[in-house]
Amino acid sequence: MKDLAFHRHRRLRQSASIRSMVRETHLHTEDFIYPIFVIDGENIKNEVKSMPNVFQFSLDLLDEEIDEVVSLGIQSVIFFGIPNEKDEVGTFAYHDHGIVQKAIRQVKARHPELTVIADTCLCEFTDHGHCGVIEEGKVLNDPSLDLLAKTAVSQAKAGADIIAPSNMMDGFVAAIRHGLDEAGYYDVPIMSYAVKYSSAFYGPFRDAANSSPKFGDRKTYQMDPANRLEAIREAQSDIEEGADFLIVKPALSYLDIIREVKDFSGYPVVAYNVSGEYAMIKAASQNGWINEKETVLEKLVSMKRAGADIILTYFAKDVARWLKESK
Ligand code: PBG
Repeated sequence: MKDLAFHRHRRLRQSASIRSMVRETHLHTEDFIYPIFVIDGENIKNEVKSMPNVFQFSLDLLDEEIDEVVSLGIQSVIFFGIPNEKDEVGTFAYHDHGIVQKAIRQVKARHPELTVIADTCLCEFTDHGHCGVIEEGKVLNDPSLDLLAKTAVSQAKAGADIIAPSNMMDGFVAAIRHGLDEAGYYDVPIMSYAVKYSSAFYGPFRDAANSSPKFGDRKTYQMDPANRLEAIREAQSDIEEGADFLIVKPALSYLDIIREVKDFSGYPVVAYNVSGEYAMIKAASQNGWINEKETVLEKLVSMKRAGADIILTYFAKDVARWLKESK
């Protein structure tokens, strides 16, 4: 034993205090964006079947929820809308009295300091459930761009602080930047879903937002999970087109991609901890198979360690509470 040379890594692990001195990655409540589903109608607070403790809110019940979010110290929310009317071209995505536009106005009037992000997509508003215009069973790229730009402008007009386009048409950032600038919204940043994979982990979200495609799938516009280099090309083109933040989605099975995008771009990177990732932890912890709090904190810290600056997560309120308790 005497002649054995080795490093004593355990010296830095021997007490909670030393461990916290050398901890490299930290979660802060300011890191989180909390997603909220808003639905047309009155007196609605529907729990999403596959997402325990996540609700669809009608606007008359929204204030209480937002007040709670703000009181927990969360600084940012993103809205997804469920309209009561859908059509072929997603009219209520870009209508001044669309559900998302109304929610933004209401929340900004009550909490002007809260950063309100608008998800900019058509799938929740089209009767076929695709993210763009359809012709002969195909999702057309360029005609969809005009509708997205219109949607973004109407959201900015309602008071959205950040526009987050998620539909994966080519050129969507360019079209939206152009639309916003022309309408005078130079200062409204674009948080682009730059790297969005065609993922089975979106299943519960589609229950929540009622946005499953009525035919086919999203594989002709969302990315193949097997591709890494393509993620760099996607991020690169969004930067050239004017993106201010880059989202990688999903997060948990794509930590390598988060690191890649962060290192290559130097841009603020957002990890989208998606609905299926939420549902898995909820299901396992409700069965008593894993410890919810410890699992959630471990997985969120792994996203930051991978290079994410910001995390969009359905766990934001829980984590804000846990971080408060540990102070
Ligand atoms: C809209 C959109 C989706 C999600 C966010 N925006 C669904 C999809 O692309 O099918 C999924 C989010 C989640 O699973 O939490 N295009």
